[in-house]
Amino acid sequence: MFFWYIANMLKYISYLYPITRQVKSKYSDTLEITWYNGKKHLNTKNANYSYGSLQAILKFGLDKIDLKQINSILLLGLGGGSVIETLRQDFNYQKQITAIDIDPVIIDIAKTEYQLENNANTTIICEDALQFIKNNTSTFDLIIIDLFIDIKVPKPFLELSFWENVITSKSTNGVLLFNASLEEKKSYQLQTVIDFLKTKVYKVDVYENVNGTNTVIISQSL
Ligand SMILES: C[S@@+](CC[C@H](N)C(=O)[O-])C[C@H]1O[C@@H](n2cnc3c(N)ncnc32)[C@H](O)[C@@H]1O
Repeated sequence: MFFWYIANMLKYISYLYPITRQVKSKYSDTLEITWYNGKKHLNTKNANYSYGSLQAILKFGLDKIDLKQINSILLLGLGGGSVIETLRQDFNYQKQITAIDIDPVIIDIAKTEYQLENNANTTIICEDALQFIKNNTSTFDLIIIDLFIDIKVPKPFLELSFWENVITSKSTNGVLLFNASLEEKKSYQLQTVIDFLKTKVYKVDVYENVNGTNTVIISQSL
């Protein structure tokens, strides 16, 4: 009751003043959990990781996917787990989600600040997504690739060896939703990934300037 009261107080005060708590992370440097306009956002120095524009960007992508056909989701990049909230609450998706994040500090934030937990339909794993994909033997109908360190997609995830692994391993037979860039123009590496996907899958859609910033890619196998 006491904690509920404090949380509600913070929520209302945040309409007047943003309230921030900082946490240090080995991977993302300073993480900020900020109550702003009644919502708790997870930010880095230069980027919104969860529950802000990032959540809107992934929702834009999910709107383009027929989730009735999707029985399992792999999320690479848990952050605060805002896309899980979107899937569960806005799309009423109650099936299996497996979420991976390299950063134990972020996983702790997801659990303590955003009440995410391992349960019958949600599995949270602390691992490098690169390793996870290399060793994975399960097949997922949808893979959401939302891997950032501050404003950058880490280099290995723009290399074709990663995408080869995603496509040719058993990891997916269905849809890939890639939050690919925060930059205005598509980089040479990103264009190479798009060209590669076009040779391997049935359909690749590229959406630029989503929410005024990001490039989002959706690819579908037959
Ligand atoms: C933008 S946040 C993800 C937000 C999340 N999808 C959501 O819906 O709230 C990006 C995440 O990628 C994670 N990340 C970066 N590099 C990674 C890697 N090599 N393996 C796994 N996670 C990684 C970061 O720790 C961070 O939590």
